[in-house]
Amino acid sequence: MVIEAPYYHQTHQESEVFLHAFRNRMPLLIKGPTGSGKSRFVEYMAHVSGQKLITISCHEETSSTDLIGRFIIKGAETVWIDGPLTTAVREGAVLYLDEIAEARPDVIVAIHSLTDHRRELFIDKLGETVKAHENFMLIASFNPGYQRGFKELKPSTRQRFVALSFEYPGPKAEAEILVNEAGVDKDIAKKLVAIGGKIRNLTELGLAETVSTRLLVDAAKLIRSGLPKRLACHAAIVEPLSDDGQAIESMKDLVDLMI
Ligand SMILES: Nc1ncnc2c1ncn2[C@@H]1O[C@H](COP(=O)(O)OP(=O)(O)OP(=O)(O)O)[C@@H](O)[C@H]1O
Ligand SMILES: [Mg+2]
Repeated sequence: MVIEAPYYHQTHQESEVFLHAFRNRMPLLIKGPTGSGKSRFVEYMAHVSGQKLITISCHEETSSTDLIGRFIIKGAETVWIDGPLTTAVREGAVLYLDEIAEARPDVIVAIHSLTDHRRELFIDKLGETVKAHENFMLIASFNPGYQRGFKELKPSTRQRFVALSFEYPGPKAEAEILVNEAGVDKDIAKKLVAIGGKIRNLTELGLAETVSTRLLVDAAKLIRSGLPKRLACHAAIVEPLSDDGQAIESMKDLVDLMI
């Protein structure tokens, strides 16, 4: 059975950067706002390079033990269970650490030796050093705007990665994505993209994060499934962005004018 590649619209030669990083056994850092296609890109690239993909969504509690592995008690014995990082290192998979800056500092320490020339993982609980499989690739994502100043990556970590910056695609590409993802016609897609563009320019709304491609895709899907256009935009674009009454009203007015 042939599994179809996930749909991905390339915008800045990012797949070339990925393939060359992979060829040179370099880890890759993907920076960019929420809903800008980072995860989709990684899924797509893992597929085209024929690699198994293991994704870990990092949060404040994510520790090196979660990644490397732990002993568990099984009947009268304790047995070692490899964590997802160890599995990827041994088997040669793409390991995607989503939102790496959220993870606990020991995670960063654990990956250091994997992200330089050594390409090895030290498992302290086993006293074992595992050399990475030649196809192992580490990818991390990071949202620089989110909680500005809070969670940063240290230069000594950042400089171990080849990095790519993701932005929301230009209007033409974004409309094409909406047509492909949601099956709406071009006209609707263009209108949604125009709404997105307008809201992105309204800095006075004080939004923590602005309209992502994801939100536009969601609105397009609701329209495609038969929800009235304005209601679809209110529910999929406006409401997820803010809880501020005034900001919501301004965005709704704008949507109603534009669609
Ligand atoms: N270049 C693209 N090609 C195809 N689909 C895209 C692209 N960019 C965004 N999308 C659409 O936007 C949605 C969100 O993208 P994705 O989940 O990759 O965002 P993300 O950058 O990983 O966001 P987060 O930081 O919140 O995890 C996708 O499900 C897809 O529908
Ligand atoms: Mg993602």
